[in-house]
Amino acid sequence: MASKLREKLEAIKSKALADLSAIQSTAQSESFRVKYLGRKGELAEALKGIKDLPASERPEVGQFANRVKRDLETAFQDRRKAVGSSNARIFIDITQPGVKIGRGHLHLVTQAIREIERIFLNIGFVRRRYPEVETDYYAFEALNMPSEHPARDEWETFFLQNPKSKTKSNQKIVLTPHTSSGQVREMENHPLPIRMMNISKCYRRQIDINHVPMFHQFEGLVVDQGIQFVHLKGVLEYFCREFFGEKRKIRLRPFHFRFTEPSFEVDVTCGLCGGKGCRYCKQGWSELGGAGMVHPNVLRAGGQDSKRVTGFAFGWGVERCYLMKEGLLIPDLRMFYQNDLRFLEQF
Ligand code: PHE
Repeated sequence: MASKLREKLEAIKSKALADLSAIQSTAQSESFRVKYLGRKGELAEALKGIKDLPASERPEVGQFANRVKRDLETAFQDRRKAVGSSNARIFIDITQPGVKIGRGHLHLVTQAIREIERIFLNIGFVRRRYPEVETDYYAFEALNMPSEHPARDEWETFFLQNPKSKTKSNQKIVLTPHTSSGQVREMENHPLPIRMMNISKCYRRQIDINHVPMFHQFEGLVVDQGIQFVHLKGVLEYFCREFFGEKRKIRLRPFHFRFTEPSFEVDVTCGLCGGKGCRYCKQGWSELGGAGMVHPNVLRAGGQDSKRVTGFAFGWGVERCYLMKEGLLIPDLRMFYQNDLRFLEQF
């Protein structure tokens, strides 16, 4: 008798567990509960048989029956929870606004480079890139700056060891300190007319609120027959109008570069005070960079007949120019490269 009842309980348990694992919904779990665990369920029915057992066998079978009941109840609760929570996930309110995924944007230096490139491409310039790791020849020598010339000091250059020819002084390797190193390369590699826009990284041993050791310059070079100073002035004015807007003015101040003659520094009216003078500018003017008519020695180094052709060049800092856009108040040029999202996200 007793072993028969045990077998019956075992059978109910294993059937119930099998049914349980098939349950997928709250409705199914309710009918399971009624079928097995309810007052008139299979388990309750089987337990009724206990009272017919001889008194000596009742306790043991009773204990067994209770264990089966407990086990089934725990398994049932677990399953119900699992089904309940997965059901909950099915109720998606498709009318709810979605979660926006944050979208990045280009770094402001890249934005500036693209803008500058577009402005010059519109008037027939061709975008170039020349080596950042450069020979002393293209960075200085070919630009009319013989070795030991004191003008070189202004460029605060990083020198590299050249493993091939350590002994020849004119074969020194540098991290190019300006994009002017592309001038002679351009003339060597391309026929006239030349309208080069070389935008590249430059390197100088300087760091303070106005300088970072790695920065960008954009260099224009135009070489052809009949190129005159007015062409230079026209191009610079066109660029400033496009980049800074109609309100800003430029002026050329006489200066000295070895590779241009005459040479100028170009200033733009300050974007903060509008030219009246403030603590961010020099009496209403901010300095943009250098420009001038290409020196005959540089034309000759580029294989040109300096009696027949002339040219102009200018080389300005990308970051520096960006700083001078209308209404920007970036207090420190180093912020461009600190990768602080609170700063970068504003552009
Ligand atoms: N290369 C110069 C500099 O880095 C700028 C310049 C370019 C000046 C072209 C004249 C002509 O300061």
